[in-house]
Amino acid sequence: MVTSELKASSFGKDFHWGVALSAAQNEGAVSEDGRSPSIWDQFARRKGVIKKGARPTVACDFYHRYRDDLLLVKALGFNSFRFSISWSRILPDGSGKANAEGIAFYQRLVDECYSLGLTPFVTLYHWDLPQVLQAEGGWESPLINRWFRHYAKVCAKNFGSVKHWLVLNEPSGFTTLGHMLGMHAPGRRSLEGFLKSVHHAALAQADGGRILRQYIPDAVIGTSFSCSEVIPFSDTPADLAAARRIDLFMNRLFVEPLLGKGFPEDDRGIVDKMNRKNKSWKFAEQMQFDMDFIGLQNYFPIVVKHHSFIPLIQAVEVKPKERKVPVTALGWEINADAFQHIIRRFWKYGAIKEIMITENGAAFKDQVLQGKVHDQERISYFQLYLQALLKSKREGVKLGGYFAWTLMDNFEWAEGYEARFGLVHVDFKTQLRTVKDSGFWWRDFLKT
Ligand code: FCB
Repeated sequence: MVTSELKASSFGKDFHWGVALSAAQNEGAVSEDGRSPSIWDQFARRKGVIKKGARPTVACDFYHRYRDDLLLVKALGFNSFRFSISWSRILPDGSGKANAEGIAFYQRLVDECYSLGLTPFVTLYHWDLPQVLQAEGGWESPLINRWFRHYAKVCAKNFGSVKHWLVLNEPSGFTTLGHMLGMHAPGRRSLEGFLKSVHHAALAQADGGRILRQYIPDAVIGTSFSCSEVIPFSDTPADLAAARRIDLFMNRLFVEPLLGKGFPEDDRGIVDKMNRKNKSWKFAEQMQFDMDFIGLQNYFPIVVKHHSFIPLIQAVEVKPKERKVPVTALGWEINADAFQHIIRRFWKYGAIKEIMITENGAAFKDQVLQGKVHDQERISYFQLYLQALLKSKREGVKLGGYFAWTLMDNFEWAEGYEARFGLVHVDFKTQLRTVKDSGFWWRDFLKT
């Protein structure tokens, strides 16, 4: 039920309402028209890393079906559409010469958005590094910054009609999961490697901003961060300190260098310890860039307590299951107050010009019954989170848009095709799309 409080128009008339998706999770067509493999194509070949051995080879076949899919976006009433560019489609050698067919694909996609009246929001990097660059060290190599600048330039020069950009998608996601925990591509588990990837990603996010500004002066430029309210399990000094340490990694690590504050420091000197391991850590000026907006992506809060056995961090998560709170199909806590708190927290930096929610959504165990998907839980989720967002706006946060994750069920990284986040259900055998009740709920809501 849409309460009288919650109306799309309450967010203002220029608000960007969109859905978001990414190249690796949706396009498929991994060896067509000159595209080379990405780290996700490679990683998915390893045994046991992705649920049911799923691969992104076909995904939603968005590469061929984008016209119909954009019609769905339009039919559901959205005015904006966020997607990412596949680096290995544009530069199959990672660097060097651009692939005309790859460029033509994104030009068609952008033109199609405009012809439908959808504003394209384009992410330069959503986790799918060309495998050829991984073979040379990928994000752990200092050369990545040169490769990334070249890639950003090629994109900026070829897609100048795009006026809304995001440089990176969740750098703390791909550095932590991909380089420290080994759960995502490229599957590395190395503290040293993680620290290098963090440093290089922090430089790349500012470099990307500078290049887009230089080539597309009228562009609205942002970058996205995952964020989670970190809640101490108790108010003992030990738990409070544990929460501060986790907060540093989950929320502060990439935004503070971008704002010109350098890497964050904490009372234990964790970052100092990192400095000693990574001599090239401090580049405060180069890591700074004045973004037009910050994209926040929120899925869950996290509750933590002190734990002496965990090296360096000395903290563990108290899982939602133990706390008996409402969760999604992935066990992620549903907590819209925490969403509001973390938005407030970022806004309080004072130096952020505008916030856009560039991803938010939930996976549930959806089923198609007689051509319908009754996903009431997802509708309730969006209602709760949008109410919280409206409170943020009323509190004075300057909000420019909200993008639901995601248009349609897709390749959810290590979860394979098991976690369904879409407003549209996809049958991965037939590619049949079925609009879920939540999709229709959005269509009605966007008219209010
Ligand atoms: C975010 C990712 C996005 C998607 C959602 C569920 O961290 O940016 O690609 O996987 O989580």
